[in-house]
Amino acid sequence: MRLQDKVAVITGASNGIGAATARKFVAEGASVILADIHEEAGQALADELGDAAQFIFCDVGRVPDIRAALDRAEQAFGGLDILFNNAAIQSVHTFEQTSEEEWQEIIDINLKSVFFGIQHAIPLMRKRGGGAIINTSSTFAIVGSPGYAAYHASKGGVSSMTRGAAISLIKDNIRVNAICPGTIMTPGLQAGVRKTADDYDAAMASYMALQPLGRFGTAEEIAAVVAFLASDEASFIVGANVTADGAYTVV
Ligand SMILES: NC(=O)c1ccc[n+]([C@@H]2O[C@H](COP(=O)([O-])OP(=O)(O)OC[C@H]3O[C@@H](n4cnc5c(N)ncnc54)[C@H](O)[C@@H]3O)[C@@H](O)[C@H]2O)c1
Repeated sequence: MRLQDKVAVITGASNGIGAATARKFVAEGASVILADIHEEAGQALADELGDAAQFIFCDVGRVPDIRAALDRAEQAFGGLDILFNNAAIQSVHTFEQTSEEEWQEIIDINLKSVFFGIQHAIPLMRKRGGGAIINTSSTFAIVGSPGYAAYHASKGGVSSMTRGAAISLIKDNIRVNAICPGTIMTPGLQAGVRKTADDYDAAMASYMALQPLGRFGTAEEIAAVVAFLASDEASFIVGANVTADGAYTVV
């Protein structure tokens, strides 16, 4: 019960890594606000988790929605101790294919949301004497790929912003870190491959061939790292971009 009596907000909590982290946080004793645009899945997860969880509709591309989700933590559970800035969308397009509208959408949802989540969390966490913020970056902040042009830019920004926020918030006893997942089997990953590949199985096989460990990661494996980073066990980890990628960035 490493997160006993802590209150957390998780964005992108309805599916994938966010949902697995919500289950893990509650199992570790926390109460959670599940913030997402996917209402049905988010409400079903809140029902599953019982009194320790509440769903709120939140489009992280809209700053007032982010503020409302963080304020809900205070209204529902008395304060905010942990923010997991996790919601993001993929853009598989190359530099030449990416329109200005797509660029802006990716930056708003993947990068601007993290900035304004941190900004609004500061006064709430100060009231509690500190806190922990974990941002979801990606191995695509570390290595390149042929597509995903705007996605690379957004996640590079998340990783760099994490370092800046970590130093800036040290005086407030707020630890800021990022997780850089490798290829994780989630609805988001599967939907992205379905959208772009003519042959889903062949595309999955080619992704699998890139995995040094010979398999994809699971959302639960990422949730375990996020729970550790959110807990006092990680008290000396500040400003880190922690990879959990089965050695994807090592080879
Ligand atoms: N799955 C991977 O291989 C992988 C790898 C590296 C990084 N990531 C990152 O991990 C995070 C979670 O990814 P996932 O694979 O679990 O994705 P997912 O698509 O399975 O889940 C993402 C959740 O975010 C929500 N969401 C989308 N747009 C939103 C918005 N505007 N406002 C609020 N919620 C929104 C979706 O409804 C969904 O519930 C993302 O930041 C992603 O970039 C994933």
